[in-house]
Amino acid sequence: ILIPILLIVMSYLYGSIPFALVIGKLFFHKDVRNYGSGNLGGTNAGRVLGKPAGLAVIILDATKCIVSMGITLLFVHQMGISMDFYYLSGLACIIGHCYPVFAGFKGGKGVSSAIAYALMTNIYAFLIAFVTFFVVLKLSKYVSLSSMLGCVAVVIAAPFLNEPTMCIITNILITCLVIYKHASNIDRIKQGTERKITWMK
Ligand code: G3P
Repeated sequence: ILIPILLIVMSYLYGSIPFALVIGKLFFHKDVRNYGSGNLGGTNAGRVLGKPAGLAVIILDATKCIVSMGITLLFVHQMGISMDFYYLSGLACIIGHCYPVFAGFKGGKGVSSAIAYALMTNIYAFLIAFVTFFVVLKLSKYVSLSSMLGCVAVVIAAPFLNEPTMCIITNILITCLVIYKHASNIDRIKQGTERKITWMK
């Protein structure tokens, strides 16, 4: 039980690295928390620091689940640890991203890491999230709405993808967390004040 606990803690710690904050401070001498939506995520990094920096943050945030779950999978195969911990390490990593110990527990909204989680669990889940995200983005121009519906689509698709129970449970928890973290975006969408992207025609 010690190794699974260590894997979960390490996943949380790796998820806690606030890449949007690190890139902003290191290369732009800006704290992205003081600009735009104030969120420590790829969208706000792109908004405040420019598209290349935003893309870098999205990729780095996506590595959180890829690395954490990849390492846990090695232990699953080598030491016979339950596959449940594979999914739980992904969840721990996303909790770390949303509530990072290294940034006063105020992090991002878990979108890039949740999409990477989908990629690590099932290629079809990833494609469903990806396609939903871009279709909703094209129609609405809201990154937040696209992100939430991308996650919801994975949950709806899960029973048809023959996913293990723990994967379905973590999918639901991750989606609830992502939606919960978007509370302020939901308010802004209702009021018509949510920022729209301008780069997609
Ligand atoms: O990256 C999270 C995205 O869905 C919304 O970000 O900065 O517009 O609140 P933001």
